[in-house]
Amino acid sequence: MAERTFAMVKPDGVGRRLVGECIRRYEARGLKLAGLKMQVLSRAKAEEHYAEHAEKPFFDRLVAFITSGPVVQMVLEGPDAVAQVRKMNGATNPLEAGPGTLRGDFALVLQNNVIHASDSPETARREIALYFDEAELLDYAMPDDAWVG
Ligand code: PPS
Repeated sequence: MAERTFAMVKPDGVGRRLVGECIRRYEARGLKLAGLKMQVLSRAKAEEHYAEHAEKPFFDRLVAFITSGPVVQMVLEGPDAVAQVRKMNGATNPLEAGPGTLRGDFALVLQNNVIHASDSPETARREIALYFDEAELLDYAMPDDAWVG
């Protein structure tokens, strides 16, 4: 049964022209794009996105960073999508991310870790709703769906 998750290429990923690489890997794995957009986040939106970290010492830096340039939001659909996308991104700290993961292959610095993804199905629902209206999420069939699920 397909699940949806949310991912966002951060300003460092966009600036380093890694948007295509991120999407390429997810699609090659068999995940299907259900929604896609690009924008510069307002401070209010960024604070809402990272609300659970409001008390953390790095919160202001994190909000300043995520609003510093364009970000690309996407909704990905597939079996166990939340956990599989997190695995493909690698550990939050790139120094702990394995080779073959996006952070393990393209990042060395905690803040500039290329991509964000939801950490649970509940978070995915909240984050998808934060960035996408229901009408912007496309439910479509592709010839390959039968073998990727
Ligand atoms: S925590 O402390 O375990 O709740 O934090 P974590 O879930 O690992 O990270 C939450 C997001 O905050 C970013 N982060 C940081 N940014 C800047 N400086 C420091 N020190 C720092 N520590 C964590 C981290 O990249 C996570 O961003 P997302 O977008 O969720 O990947």
